[in-house]
Amino acid sequence: MAVKWFSLLALALVASFAAAQDEGPFEDPDCALGDENTCPVYSTYQCTTDVRERGEIDLDVNDMAAFADSFEFGQAKSIFQQGKNSRTSSGGFRTLEGFSVQAEDKMSDWPDFQLFREYYNDNPAYARDYVLDALDASGEFGGADDWTRAEASVKGAQYMCLAMYVIHEMEDAVADCEAGDVTANDGGAKAWDETAAFYVGSLVANTGDDGVLQYGLALNRQLQFTGSADINGQVMDLLNEGKKLVDSPTRNCPELARIKNEIIDLLKVPLLQGLIRYAFLADENSGGTSSNLPKARGEGNAFARSILPWINGTDPNVGTKIDENFPPTGRAVKDGYNSVVESLESLYGKEYFQSISADDVGTLTAAGDVEDSGLSGGAIAGIVIGVIAGVALLILAALWFMKRRKSKSSYAKEANLSGDVANGATAGDGYVPPEMP
Ligand SMILES: *[C@@H]1O[C@H](CO)[C@@H](O)[C@H](O)[C@H]1NC(C)=O
Repeated sequence: MAVKWFSLLALALVASFAAAQDEGPFEDPDCALGDENTCPVYSTYQCTTDVRERGEIDLDVNDMAAFADSFEFGQAKSIFQQGKNSRTSSGGFRTLEGFSVQAEDKMSDWPDFQLFREYYNDNPAYARDYVLDALDASGEFGGADDWTRAEASVKGAQYMCLAMYVIHEMEDAVADCEAGDVTANDGGAKAWDETAAFYVGSLVANTGDDGVLQYGLALNRQLQFTGSADINGQVMDLLNEGKKLVDSPTRNCPELARIKNEIIDLLKVPLLQGLIRYAFLADENSGGTSSNLPKARGEGNAFARSILPWINGTDPNVGTKIDENFPPTGRAVKDGYNSVVESLESLYGKEYFQSISADDVGTLTAAGDVEDSGLSGGAIAGIVIGVIAGVALLILAALWFMKRRKSKSSYAKEANLSGDVANGATAGDGYVPPEMP
């Protein structure tokens, strides 16, 4: 609890500091365009245009989450719709809702947006409408649990509204490259810099913590999934590779497009891991407990919605199954954790998951709690998972000794064994991850 209060206090300090910063003019002379010494650095990515205000959209995510988590949905909605921390070059506020509202205007040429729009009944503002339904308890969220609404609304803002905009910025950068004008954007920013700002966020740049955007999500997932790929390492390397192309006079736009596509594929891995994790935590026969089920249901539903168009586009049967197993209300994961995981695994190497392998995704070994809410149920869940993991470890040890007597165990066999543990729905070592985005 102390840690929790301390982190809240720290967040409040960061937020008030940021608010104070906001009072100045948008163009900060400390970050002259093109000055690499003063422009923002997102993880390993050095911007050369001033995209700091864009990066501060993560403060809106934090503010929205703080209201949603105390069920002050009206306040959360006002952050979502009116913004608070991220100014545009015209002096207004950039908003999380705006990413979705502007999608039709800005993204109608991009294939991923087209796929998502089509999947969501040709509704271009599908992400905004999803978040509003969760906030208002309307539509499919009628009668939904408050925790489900809190998680779905914030995750929808992060991984539906903003995540598609990250893809947009990369597409835009390729278009700018083809048009021969890389700063043809709001405030003279480079779209490739904007990608870094919206992927990583200001909290990572200014406080060194994991942040609450896709970058932070990938870090958390990596801790929870043993053997999984270093998604952020790869994304940041690719962003830096792309930056060289953007800044080069030779304009190798096809190569920039290839890098963009590679990043888009990597972004799907933490979402798949999210589905697997919440299949575990929302399944009352595996990791689900009465206290964490409503949260896990909301998170599972939001992660499903953030990736379902790609899933359905790869295999409609899996699409239907995932949709049915992650509803906003009622029984989640009706087919059971194992069955859901198997269906997801069947997608690897195909269509929209062409470049993704089981190794990239790794094995869920630290399910942890569904976001520490300070409820004792969370602690109980952690202990239960820990005990299960202990038993699993004993079984593993026994299996290992048996195998060892037959043949020297190879690395592959070890990996396979731990895979069986997760597939047997007994994963988890009681590790409680930090507050996750
Ligand atoms: C899923 O894909 C199938 C086959 O392409 C399509 O007929 C169906 O409309 C898709 N589902 C949704 C909800 O778009």
